[in-house]
Amino acid sequence: MSVDTVNAEGLHAAMVDQLVADHADKGLAMRPEVETALRTVRRHLFTPDAPLEEAYRADQAVVTKRRGDEAVSSVSAPWLIAEMLGQAADVIDGGLLGRHVLEIGSGGYNAALLHELVGPAGSVTTVDIDSDVTDRATACLAAAGYDDVTVVCADADQLIGHDRSYDLIIVTVGAWDIPPAWTEQLAETGTLVVPLRTFGMTRSWALRRAGDRLTSHSQRLCGFVSMQGSGAHEMRYVDIAVGVHLRLDELGQQADPEAVGALLSQPPAQEWAGASLPPRTILADLDLWLAARITEAGQQFVVLTAQQEAIDAGLVTPAWRYGTPAALHDGSFCYRSALKWTGDLFDVGARAHGRDAGAAAERMVKQMRDWLDAGSPSPMLHVLPAGTPDGDLPAGTVLDKRRSRVVLTFNPS
Ligand SMILES: C[S@@+](CC[C@H](N)C(=O)[O-])C[C@H]1O[C@@H](n2cnc3c(N)ncnc32)[C@H](O)[C@@H]1O
Repeated sequence: MSVDTVNAEGLHAAMVDQLVADHADKGLAMRPEVETALRTVRRHLFTPDAPLEEAYRADQAVVTKRRGDEAVSSVSAPWLIAEMLGQAADVIDGGLLGRHVLEIGSGGYNAALLHELVGPAGSVTTVDIDSDVTDRATACLAAAGYDDVTVVCADADQLIGHDRSYDLIIVTVGAWDIPPAWTEQLAETGTLVVPLRTFGMTRSWALRRAGDRLTSHSQRLCGFVSMQGSGAHEMRYVDIAVGVHLRLDELGQQADPEAVGALLSQPPAQEWAGASLPPRTILADLDLWLAARITEAGQQFVVLTAQQEAIDAGLVTPAWRYGTPAALHDGSFCYRSALKWTGDLFDVGARAHGRDAGAAAERMVKQMRDWLDAGSPSPMLHVLPAGTPDGDLPAGTVLDKRRSRVVLTFNPS
């Protein structure tokens, strides 16, 4: 055995151990069949140009293609793939063995894992819009011994193989909308796992089909390269101060950068919820709750992002600089602020600028308290075809995409 082979085996085992431990830290149990697949498929065979150490980093994607500064293709991060496969396996009654799967976005690695999970009685088709990617995936899959994965070069916004239906469609590229083709290609109670942006925030949703609608069973925080082709939807950013931006991702969202920038230069008001939360409390669900509550209250929801320099300069103190819920309303600008720690516990709060800043911050803090008082409920997503009459929608916060109507609801946990 060569030194590299020995190295690869050790790094591979350590990566899977790390993934299992990370799952446990998040309160998730890795399913045994997912762990077995992760221990079987050698990731370095799908990242031949990367050093072995990078191939076996649990927390990192390996970028395989860039366009300018933008990564357009990668072999996804193992932690994320492991969580998404777990989401799929949790929803599908009877598990993945023998199932027919369509993967959207090809890197080879996830297709090989899926092949292990579905076994010889199942099938895996992987589709990518980019022939460089499909050529690469085909070669890597063959080198790793997975000759019977079907690799297709096409825009997955459309039907892939008109007479096919899949038990699972797993999307490994960031989507903004759910095209009708995805629901149509699912078996009647099939599962769609998709990293979908709602209100400018991405979650991997595991959704189950019933007729023409999809209902979520789980969701996880995640990030992905963006969808290309006819389903592409570019995120818009407006600069409101040096290094401070608003993300406007939904239809009809607008903000006047100069007016919001002027608000930001006014003195802030800070309010706290008065909570004492333990360190591992996950606040991603709170962010979607705020998006829904702010929208329901008739305020404009936006996402605040900032460069570290702007935070260091004290311009803004967002909860997370890559995307913090914010509200624009009646001459005020308010956002979820950085946490306040007291020993091992923390509090959540809001910071506002502009007219009645104190009242605006108190309003957002009240929305946070409501979430805590309701038992920190998790969001559920319902996806219905565009054109579904309002009366046929479940009660919740409606987000109209181009080809679907999305409704966010919250169930007590
Ligand atoms: C993160 S990579 C996929 C990773 C892969 N599943 C793995 O095994 O790690 C995302 C891929 O989605 C592809 N993609 C983007 N838009 C697409 C579309 N409309 N249809 C099919 N593939 C698309 C990109 O070319 C890119 O290769």
